[in-house]
Amino acid sequence: MTFLDECKKVPYKDIWFYVHEQVYEPREDSFLIADNLKVDKGERVLDLGAGCGILGILAAKQGAEVVATDINPYAVRCARINAEMQKVKIDARQGFLFEPVQNEKFDLILFNPPYLKVKEKPKEWIDYSYSSSETLNKFLQQYKAHLTQNGRALVINSSLSGIEVKGKILDKKKLPFEEIFLVELER
Ligand SMILES: C[S@@+](CC[C@H](N)C(=O)[O-])C[C@H]1O[C@@H](n2cnc3c(N)ncnc32)[C@H](O)[C@@H]1O
Repeated sequence: MTFLDECKKVPYKDIWFYVHEQVYEPREDSFLIADNLKVDKGERVLDLGAGCGILGILAAKQGAEVVATDINPYAVRCARINAEMQKVKIDARQGFLFEPVQNEKFDLILFNPPYLKVKEKPKEWIDYSYSSSETLNKFLQQYKAHLTQNGRALVINSSLSGIEVKGKILDKKKLPFEEIFLVELER
């Protein structure tokens, strides 16, 4: 079995993404950012918790210079493969939150975080996609240091996270068991 054999193909508009079984499959929360994503050519974008790379790849297609990071090595590999398939350049790196971009600043940070309150520690790589609202809290403490002067962040929050993300709500969507919000944060 090759890596690609363990992937399914998931569409967003006319683009198909390879998604490994250990990687988050793009869905409503991913699409809420994707549908609102507008970047200027040459902007530096950080796709944090990139999963299969969908958001970074869409930004790169609009001409952004993209760094995509994820704690999950399968996700990093998927993001690289999908970028290659889509003939765009992204710099995909593995690591915890801002660790792989320690002294770097970005015009735009995209983050669709794990936001469910789950007590158990992640057992498999895919589990990092869902659990630990601690990750969102840590992100909120750290993101400003990685934004340029006029930089902004687009973050997903959910009625299930139990965390208040103070910013401008750009869009929202009601789902059967939760409501999800796209929040814009400034420096
Ligand atoms: C909800 S998924 C979103 C994936 C993709 N951005 C999307 O919208 O489809 C959250 C992603 O964050 C990653 N992640 C979770 N905790 C992380 C951390 N501390 N540092 C970096 N990435 C993390 C997970 O591995 C997962 O790929």
